[in-house]
Amino acid sequence: MKFFVDTADVAEIKDLAATGLLDGVTTNPSLIKKAGRDFKEVIAEICGIVDGPVSAEVVAMDFDGMKRQGDELVKIAKNVCIKVPLTIDGLKACKYFTDKGTQVNVTLCFSAAQAILAAKAGATFISPFVGRLDDIGQDGMELISDIVEIYNNYQEFTTEVLVASVRNPMHVVLAAKLGAHVATIPANVIKQLALHPLTDKGLDQFNKDWAATGQKL
Ligand code: E4P
Repeated sequence: MKFFVDTADVAEIKDLAATGLLDGVTTNPSLIKKAGRDFKEVIAEICGIVDGPVSAEVVAMDFDGMKRQGDELVKIAKNVCIKVPLTIDGLKACKYFTDKGTQVNVTLCFSAAQAILAAKAGATFISPFVGRLDDIGQDGMELISDIVEIYNNYQEFTTEVLVASVRNPMHVVLAAKLGAHVATIPANVIKQLALHPLTDKGLDQFNKDWAATGQKL
């Protein structure tokens, strides 16, 4: 299972890249706003830190605009992955960029029907937003289960399921149990995955016992 970090914060990305856990990065216009930095500049910097796909989202609503913006974004680095919305124009843009050999992440997916369209348009990644579905009382992980099952039925569907809008460690564990290819995870949730009270308790005891031996390393 691949881990992407869902952030445009370069310091967070550098910190996580040092763990060797990072396979890619996803950004979106809201994360760019939060970072408070120039979009293209920040994407260039991230692409210099992480070798894997770095999703950069177009903001045009129409195919021609998406094509123009995406063509600019791909010039930044060879690992830029163009992120397009799950609309008919977004699917056209998906086909245009994947035909040229550029990776495409189709975002804002909330149904299995939408995921089928993305796979047929040749998307590299489909991003179903589990947290936002949970927020409106629908089971986000059920959507992941449906998409994984559908994609497994068709050899010609090569699109990877990228679980997005992840809010907690259980989203990651359940995504892995369902066989999702990727999860894009906020930095704080990646760190939460490492936590267990018995790890802390055990470490505390080992440290006390080591101190009691009077030895030094
Ligand atoms: C995915 O690529 C999106 O950037 C992200 O996962 C959205 O998550 P949110 O619902 O926490 O904003």
